[in-house]
Amino acid sequence: MSAIEILGLRPIRGGLSVQGSKNAVLPMMAASVLNRGKTVLENVPGIQDVFCMMGILDSLGCSCRLTGGRLEIDSSGLCGVRIAREEMEKMRSSVMLLGALLGRCGEAQICRPGGCRIGSRPIDLHLEALEALGARFESDGEILRATGARLAGGHIVLSYPSVGATENALFAAVMASGRTVVEGCAREPEIGELCMFLNGMGACVRGGGTGVITVEGGLPLHDVRMTVGGDRIAAGTYLLAASLSGGEIVLEGVRTSSLTAVTEALQRMGAVLYQEETLFYLRAPGRLRAVRIRTGPYPEFPTDLQSAMMAAMSVAKGESVLEETVFENRLGTAKELLKMGADIVCCDRRARIRGRSRLRGARVEAGDLRGGAALAAAALGAQGRTVISGYEHIRRGYEDLCRDLRRLGAQARVLEENANEEEQRAARVCEEDALGEEQKAARVPEEDALGEERKAARVPEKDALEEA
Ligand code: UD1
Repeated sequence: MSAIEILGLRPIRGGLSVQGSKNAVLPMMAASVLNRGKTVLENVPGIQDVFCMMGILDSLGCSCRLTGGRLEIDSSGLCGVRIAREEMEKMRSSVMLLGALLGRCGEAQICRPGGCRIGSRPIDLHLEALEALGARFESDGEILRATGARLAGGHIVLSYPSVGATENALFAAVMASGRTVVEGCAREPEIGELCMFLNGMGACVRGGGTGVITVEGGLPLHDVRMTVGGDRIAAGTYLLAASLSGGEIVLEGVRTSSLTAVTEALQRMGAVLYQEETLFYLRAPGRLRAVRIRTGPYPEFPTDLQSAMMAAMSVAKGESVLEETVFENRLGTAKELLKMGADIVCCDRRARIRGRSRLRGARVEAGDLRGGAALAAAALGAQGRTVISGYEHIRRGYEDLCRDLRRLGAQARVLEENANEEEQRAARVCEEDALGEEQKAARVPEEDALGEERKAARVPEKDALEEA
């Protein structure tokens, strides 16, 4: 398992051009199979999820080539309709190939990770949408087979604005004969980008980025070229990292309008922001202020930045409350932040966070992509050295997090997979540092140090949250 090491308490400063968007490029790659021809995508990030999707497309008979941010996909040789279990396990979002393969080939086969039953969460909305256009499903318990040689336009109503279900519905609708109206669509900017991509391919899709999308299906498709927009989640990660490390940064390449919920929250926390169409300037305050945040479907606060916001709240003055409404189990980063000295109490989908004046370096583990990036942000605001294992999760969505942080003046590096000894040495130093800090803290108790922790331990968790 590879790891990264970050030395904290050095405010990050400087400018960065943000990588292309993971959540925009993946559905475009899936959509490339709709056309029997070539797709060229520019500004493609070199991230594991992109490599994984390239591997899946290759295994289906397409040919993919990525050079210097330019991805060429030739899907004329597509001959497979089945995505292997290992691929599904590596990247759950490969489920977006379900609608694309069904639309192109009239059949698709996927394996559900963990062998869940058909129709149960989390892809029930995808299946309902495809069924409304004439798809049929059967399963032997492990493999889900979708068929629909003659899809016909229809009326789809999504009961929740799922990003993936909206994308799958669009892929099938583009290939179905006649008009499809999809209501209750996800309004994420990446859906708008996907609709532009589909139109560039010859489809007729209107209303992308709004709650109702209309597709005139069955039109002839052709080769397409598109530049992928900047990654708003990566941009948000760096804005939050700069805020909690007391830094000053300029980011380029992401539409500022796509991060309004985040920049508004940062302003409420005391950060100074100046924004142009695709440029952010942020100057952190001496110390962030506590806020209350609830995640939700776009344009609400993005769940993908909830962990990084939790890291920022951990050093904000006062008591913050963070509520996760999109995914049931996404407060897991709290456990790792506690190891860095954070004061967080979680109950159901809510976390109550009492800000410390600073965190301390520790050995922590990235349990998922966004949680890992949040720990890196937290490490910037922590005294001493932090070692974050599970770097492979971070690489799924960030091209080179350490390179980007170094460009902003941070001390960050990857501890190579075969450098176990080095990692262990760093971990030992890190534990020693943390111990030293604890001893210091015990000698000079801060306003919010040990005494507060003991008090918090006496307050039943639920009561604390209800008060908040
Ligand atoms: C996409 C993003 C992911 C982001 C998420 C929410 C990509 C590649 N991934 O994931 O980064 O965190 O949107 O913004 O774009 N659900 C169901 N049934 C379904 C589908 C979804 O119950 O059939 C539930 C999910 O369990 C989850 C919620 O709906 O609780 C949101 O999921 P969804 O919007 O579908 O997320 P993804 O498309 O998987």
